[in-house]
Amino acid sequence: MRTIDLRSDTVTLPTKEMMLSMMDAELGDDVSREDPTVNRLEELSAKCFGTEAALFTPSGTQSNLISVMVHCRRGDEMIVESEAHIYYYEVGGMSAVAGVIPRLIRGNLGVFTPEQVIDAVRGDDMHFPPSKLVEIENTHNRAGGTVWTPKEVSAVSICAHDLGMKVHIDGARIFNAAVALDVGVKEYAKNVDSISFCLSKGLSAPVGSIIVGDKEFIEKARKTRKMLGGGMRQAGVIAAPGIVALTKMVGRLKEDHDNARKLAIGLKSLGTFDVEMRTVQTNIVLIDVSPLDMNSEQFVEKLKRSGILAADFGGCIVRFVTHRGITSKDIDETIGRIERLK
Ligand SMILES: Cc1ncc(COP(=O)(O)O)c(C=O)c1O
Repeated sequence: MRTIDLRSDTVTLPTKEMMLSMMDAELGDDVSREDPTVNRLEELSAKCFGTEAALFTPSGTQSNLISVMVHCRRGDEMIVESEAHIYYYEVGGMSAVAGVIPRLIRGNLGVFTPEQVIDAVRGDDMHFPPSKLVEIENTHNRAGGTVWTPKEVSAVSICAHDLGMKVHIDGARIFNAAVALDVGVKEYAKNVDSISFCLSKGLSAPVGSIIVGDKEFIEKARKTRKMLGGGMRQAGVIAAPGIVALTKMVGRLKEDHDNARKLAIGLKSLGTFDVEMRTVQTNIVLIDVSPLDMNSEQFVEKLKRSGILAADFGGCIVRFVTHRGITSKDIDETIGRIERLK
């Protein structure tokens, strides 16, 4: 029985072209900015987002941490959605390493409004930490891959700037958002101070993430990356597949979105558990298995025995993520196997 791995788009393996690009990559010492392949990836990324500069980092987690460290000082406060990846899944680095205090606000499917930002800022008072940063996650992972529109991002950013704060987007899957709305990622970069995005999720590169922003921000980010141990030497070996990811893999994300929708519709039609269709906007499907009198851990175990891998999202929520390794036929097979579950 073939295993169908719907745990995450991080399980994607590099394409043959990516593997070959590693063999042929021109290399140098990237800490001294002498790696032509890394330089090319950074230039390409900045061009793609319409920003002055970009920085290659080993992971999305490090990109987010660097961005927080550049935008904030220890003891500052950051406004962040209550289920954001940076708060939920990044080992508390924003506080443990950057010394920044999260001020949580609850979004609607991951999206919050300028009014909520205004409410969250407590103002200049002897007792409160200064609010210095607003973080937006697009697409929002725990909300189910939900999309912020460029208009929603701009409205929050303009408001944050008026209040003297910077704005960072955790855009690990920002290309999914852009593809879902059929807009360019430049639309997201217009009013924000930094965006991080991952090469190693749906775009299928084996390693890496990028931060984009203005020259001054990226220079500080470069130094912070070094401090965190993220200064890499002949990093062109891993940057080369990133170039393939950016230039060749964005268009195909639509296929993942179509497969996610097909999966959601198929699972809903089984009538045995709840599928929140409003959140099926990109490549993530969340189901609530409470009608089965099971928790997510038990259901994920049961799925595993029938050769389907999914992620335990806590409580009764199970997450499925479509990606390049999943075909439309795999979706049919998944729905069939789940229907036959005993
Ligand atoms: C929204 C979001 N941000 C950041 C990350 C972190 O990326 P990495 O696993 O490369 O550290 C992830 C990883 O899944 C993510 O989903």
